[in-house]
Amino acid sequence: MIGNLNHIAIVVPDLKKAVEIYNVTLGAKVSDPVDIPDHGVRVIFVELENTKIELLLPIGKNSPVASYLERNPNGGIHHICYSVEDILSARDRCVAQGLTIIGTGEPQIGAHGKPVLFLHPKNLCGTLVELEQT
Ligand code: CO
Repeated sequence: MIGNLNHIAIVVPDLKKAVEIYNVTLGAKVSDPVDIPDHGVRVIFVELENTKIELLLPIGKNSPVASYLERNPNGGIHHICYSVEDILSARDRCVAQGLTIIGTGEPQIGAHGKPVLFLHPKNLCGTLVELEQT
């Protein structure tokens, strides 16, 4: 069911430092910061040959990643995202397999303008998983 590794999202306390690490230290291509207020994040995309890393800084009061940063002040991996061809059939399969969908169970429009769902880490090796229809 799952396809490519779409992206890995890393929450960071300082975007400028994170850019220095990925661009200067590790020599990766990074984007300019993009604010996605609907998702409460400022994002920098690290473009790799086979996937993307998204460096997320919480913005606004109700950012869904703010509490993660409180628990992990140095930042850390927040979720990994797999591509799926059809989000609704992926959702139905996940439910049938006993996984827990976070929220209403209906796909939301994600940070890339495509339908996404998040799966609870308790059933998935402790990892928050996003599915994105591509
Ligand atoms: Co994501």
